[in-house]
Amino acid sequence: MAPYRLDVISLSPRAFLSLDQLGVIGRAFESGIAEIHIHNPRDFVKDRYRQVDDHPYGGGPGMVLMPEPVFQAFESIPRKEKTRTVLLTPQGCDLRQTDLQRWSADYDQLVLICGQYEGFDERIRTLVDEEVSIGDFVLTGGEIPAMVLINGIVRLLPGTVGCSESLLNESHSSGLLEHPHYTRPAEFRGIVVPDVLRSGNHQAIASWRQAQRVIRTKLRRPDLYIRWHAKQDPSLLPTIDASVKEIVSFRVGIGYDIHRLVSGRPLIIGGIALDHPDGLGLDGHSDADVLVHSIMDALLGALALGDIGKYFPPEDPKWKGADSMLLLSEVILLVLNKGWKVVNVDAVVVAERPKLKPYIDLMRTNLAERMKLESSVVCVKATTNEKLGPEGREEGISCQAVVLLHKL
Ligand code: ADE
Repeated sequence: MAPYRLDVISLSPRAFLSLDQLGVIGRAFESGIAEIHIHNPRDFVKDRYRQVDDHPYGGGPGMVLMPEPVFQAFESIPRKEKTRTVLLTPQGCDLRQTDLQRWSADYDQLVLICGQYEGFDERIRTLVDEEVSIGDFVLTGGEIPAMVLINGIVRLLPGTVGCSESLLNESHSSGLLEHPHYTRPAEFRGIVVPDVLRSGNHQAIASWRQAQRVIRTKLRRPDLYIRWHAKQDPSLLPTIDASVKEIVSFRVGIGYDIHRLVSGRPLIIGGIALDHPDGLGLDGHSDADVLVHSIMDALLGALALGDIGKYFPPEDPKWKGADSMLLLSEVILLVLNKGWKVVNVDAVVVAERPKLKPYIDLMRTNLAERMKLESSVVCVKATTNEKLGPEGREEGISCQAVVLLHKL
């Protein structure tokens, strides 16, 4: 079979020397499966300075690659019957495995034009059939992207890879990511190879691998999973979309509250009545429990439901002196009824006095019980404000909380 012909138009021909060093790719060139020809536009310039770029019309920084040397390099390339020209720029379509499969199977020649980071004359675009990008980032030129493409195509050519069966199941070929691989030893640093792979039951192994491919793709690349599933059965698309949304359905919320320290009021934090050395307590319509309030605000915030003022308005006499722990029960019920589960809670109370450390564990247990959670996912911390600000001057006590919710 005649070699697959790769022609690259680049101002940095030496960049491609390393392709020969690339194991199977290098061997594919050596054994005549593919051949590569580099064309430097500079070689087509007659002037003394061999200038290939010029200032942009309309002004602006940088230089622009001129069309003439690129056209000449392009026109010097001998053509095979089935040929395709691809321009590498950050403005191109995303490169996909299906493109590599298509180029390697349907053509016998690929001409790659490497763009330059400072820019190239727009008329160069008229030479190309396709424009490709290797990702949403900008490199100094199209050389590295061209090497990515060459590597991806050459490995698909018959004879390059020893076992062509391995090309069928690899990530992206079947539309799914590849299943996990294991080799000896059967146990390594406490991690054991799944029993099924050592069972010798080929049917069981094949179905385990297929299941792993599906799970992996669903978890790691929901976008690919939707596409793959839609191909299996397009009518399933709405259901799949919903199931993928479920995987990525996390919500985070933040809450903050501060109450004034006054005399003649109880000091209740995290549902626990504390003694302030000066007999102060927190002023507010309810029991002014800043810790519970900030957690409720975070829960409501995560679901974009507003704040506690909306659910328990201070002007409503119903909530006068209310136990905030009871309000927390109501908020949790709301969260659960909306189909969400609390993953974890983290809060920090800012108070100069009294010392909160001895009560922290009790607060955690109290809150966890109220929220129907394990106390291991509820964290309460306390800090002073180093005598700074309203908390430091003991004018008040504040709290900040963060919660993470997961769609059930
Ligand atoms: N040239 C510069 N950046 C590029 C990219 N991300 N993809 C393809 N060609 C490029």
